[in-house]
Amino acid sequence: MKNLHVVVVGAGIGGLQTALALATDNHHVTVVEAVKEFMEVGAGIRVPPNSSRLSISWGVDLSKVKKVESAGNRFLDWKNNVLLDIPLKNVTEEYGAPYYFIHRADLINALLDAAKKHSNITLKTDCRVVDYDFYAPSIRTEQGETIKGDLVICADGIKSAIRDTINRTPAKLVDTGDVAYRILVPAAPLLEDPSTRSLVTEPWAMHWLGPEGHAVGYPLRGGEMYNIIMDITHDTDLGDPVGEAEWKSAADNDELVRRFKDWCEPVRKLAALTGQYLKWKLADLETELDHWIHESGKVALLGDACHPMMPYLAQGAAQATEDAGTLRAVLKEYDNIPKALSVYEKQRKGRGEYIAKNTRVMQEWLHLPDGPARDERDRMMKHDNRSNPMFWGDKRRKDWLFGYDAEKLLISINQCH
Ligand SMILES: Cc1cc2nc3c(=O)[nH]c(=O)nc-3n(C[C@H](O)[C@H](O)[C@H](O)COP(=O)(O)OP(=O)(O)OC[C@H]3O[C@@H](n4cnc5c(N)ncnc54)[C@H](O)[C@@H]3O)c2cc1C
Ligand SMILES: *[C@@H]1O[C@H](CO)[C@@H](O)[C@H](O)[C@H]1NC(C)=O
Ligand SMILES: *[C@@H]1O[C@H](CO)[C@@H](O)[C@H](O)[C@H]1NC(C)=O
Ligand SMILES: *[C@@H]1O[C@H](CO)[C@@H](O)[C@H](O)[C@H]1NC(C)=O
Ligand SMILES: *[C@@H]1O[C@H](CO)[C@@H](O)[C@H](O)[C@H]1NC(C)=O
Repeated sequence: MKNLHVVVVGAGIGGLQTALALATDNHHVTVVEAVKEFMEVGAGIRVPPNSSRLSISWGVDLSKVKKVESAGNRFLDWKNNVLLDIPLKNVTEEYGAPYYFIHRADLINALLDAAKKHSNITLKTDCRVVDYDFYAPSIRTEQGETIKGDLVICADGIKSAIRDTINRTPAKLVDTGDVAYRILVPAAPLLEDPSTRSLVTEPWAMHWLGPEGHAVGYPLRGGEMYNIIMDITHDTDLGDPVGEAEWKSAADNDELVRRFKDWCEPVRKLAALTGQYLKWKLADLETELDHWIHESGKVALLGDACHPMMPYLAQGAAQATEDAGTLRAVLKEYDNIPKALSVYEKQRKGRGEYIAKNTRVMQEWLHLPDGPARDERDRMMKHDNRSNPMFWGDKRRKDWLFGYDAEKLLISINQCH
């Protein structure tokens, strides 16, 4: 199909990628976003190979974005002994595009720039969607405007207000038991200190695994900044609990300094650099959804709205981007919207939910206390096969994760009921 008018609800990474994917295939897209100003959290994001390639092919200029190419994933214990290195230096040869570390604000700005330049995209901010007509299909904004399209894509994030209706049964969000502290610091103090310099000059995504928590770090913006994520269980969080309603709260580095006081020197130094920041409650769906498409066949969920996941595989935004790629392909292939969307659902649901499930598996492995289970984990981390507790540690799983072409249809309409 060509020349469709697509209404996209939400201008997060998922909604913006969808707009770009479809507009570059001769559709017209109206993106409706509730907030007025985009205020991305000060944090980094890891952009894996096939997802960066999709964005570039849809007109996103990543060449001007100051980024860092990942050397790979390094796993250490909390005393700084290396357990496993998964080099990603060859990703360009292996998967056709590099693995980038990017500042979230820079990524959002590159997506926004591309969307604003595109004559087939209309971006409406400060415009909350408050109602849907699933059969028209159309949406109504808080200001009372009705916007009709040929189809509507709901990329309204983990707190999606429309998910339950589309799913036809309420889907419960549950607390995963973990909080994530997300912090950006200047790299200069790390570069000056011989014990931390290599964190910036050798751009591994570092993962220190310890009892009831792990710390992740990687450099950003060509090595000017360093991104720190501390993921810990609520039970061992020394700060104020995160509020029920807002899911985030202000925190102070004193909490982290005390929480990580027995960990190795690099982690203690990172904790001490953090200053003021936000910490986030990590939530997840209690069970997988039954439906991603409304009964009308014209309204579909995309991104965190349908497959929220823990950040432990650095895949949430990448999967939303893949959703957009598959959506582009089904609209090209099929001449009927309900058919196109059922193929989209069938192809994307299995993969998105499998990855989400594996982020929960990683949660357990990453937070083991010292003891026999941890020893077994460390032993299994040496094996390049399915028993490796780190998802990427098995070459076949890694290829499946990074070597996926979202625009290639793997499902035919006959496989959908
Ligand atoms: C600590 C942490 C680290 C992460 N690291 C990575 C990583 O390295 N790599 C990776 O790929 N992913 C990562 N993720 C996941 C990634 O951030 C998310 O999966 C991704 O941003 C989800 O995008 P989205 O567009 O689906 O949802 P969102 O970004 O939540 O966007 C939803 C948008 O919809 C808007 N909206 C909501 N309701 C309405 C309405 N009624 N009307 C209009 N607009 C509405 C919202 O304002 C928002 O702008 C991480 C997540 C966390 C928490
Ligand atoms: C916008 O879509 C029309 C078809 O509806 C197409 O002819 C045109 O090339 C598109 N514009 C851009 C910039 O892609
Ligand atoms: C990287 O690529 C080179 C040549 O293409 C190959 O010899 C080498 O084994 C690869 N390394 C990894 C870690 O895959
Ligand atoms: C994704 O990776 C595979 C395997 O390397 C490659 O064949 C394919 O072209 C890639 N697709 C995109 C969109 O980058
Ligand atoms: C992985 O390799 C190890 C060591 O060879 C072996 O003990 C284990 O059973 C293997 N797992 C699988 C699933 O093959």
